Amino acid sequence: MTQVPQPAGGTDGHDVAARIEKRWAMLVIGIVCVLIAMVIFTGLHWAMMPPSRVETIDPLTLHITGEFVESNLGSAREADGSITVRLIAQQYSFTPQCVLVPASTPITFRATSADVVHGFLITRTNINSMLEPGYVSTFRTTFDQPGDHLMPCHEFCGVGHEGMWAHVKVIERDAFDKLAVNARRLSCVQ
Ligand code: CUA
Repeated sequence: MTQVPQPAGGTDGHDVAARIEKRWAMLVIGIVCVLIAMVIFTGLHWAMMPPSRVETIDPLTLHITGEFVESNLGSAREADGSITVRLIAQQYSFTPQCVLVPASTPITFRATSADVVHGFLITRTNINSMLEPGYVSTFRTTFDQPGDHLMPCHEFCGVGHEGMWAHVKVIERDAFDKLAVNARRLSCVQ
């Protein structure tokens, strides 16, 4: 019979290793649970949902023909009183750079990119998505109060990314209606 030499520390060493592994496993499971809870919370509380519809468009002819020609960008009043805002993102700006909308009115944003993937986020709303060339992204929201919201691009899109900002200006509905009498499309670009 040969004696198997015991490793230094013996079974105590195995116990310690098993205990540490278990602790790390619990930590990782805990982090995963927190992340899942965050997804459920933002989904239910902020109504953040992944886009569920796909609409395509040719990014090469955006400026020439169709819905996203320059004269059709900005805010338009629909027959039912709601507002549709059409805008384009490109390196490194949005067109229009200032979006004018009325408060307490359903707003539909329709946006796309003319070149690369850009981010689309309006502060203090649940709008937070990407604008991809070839696809039209649609978002609906209602602004309860007049005020100014920032609209930064939050997807890295090139060297000018950090300078890619626009604004959303929410004004009283009456003031918007007065302006809308004289204009087919509205924006607050000076
Ligand atoms: Cu556009 Cu970042």
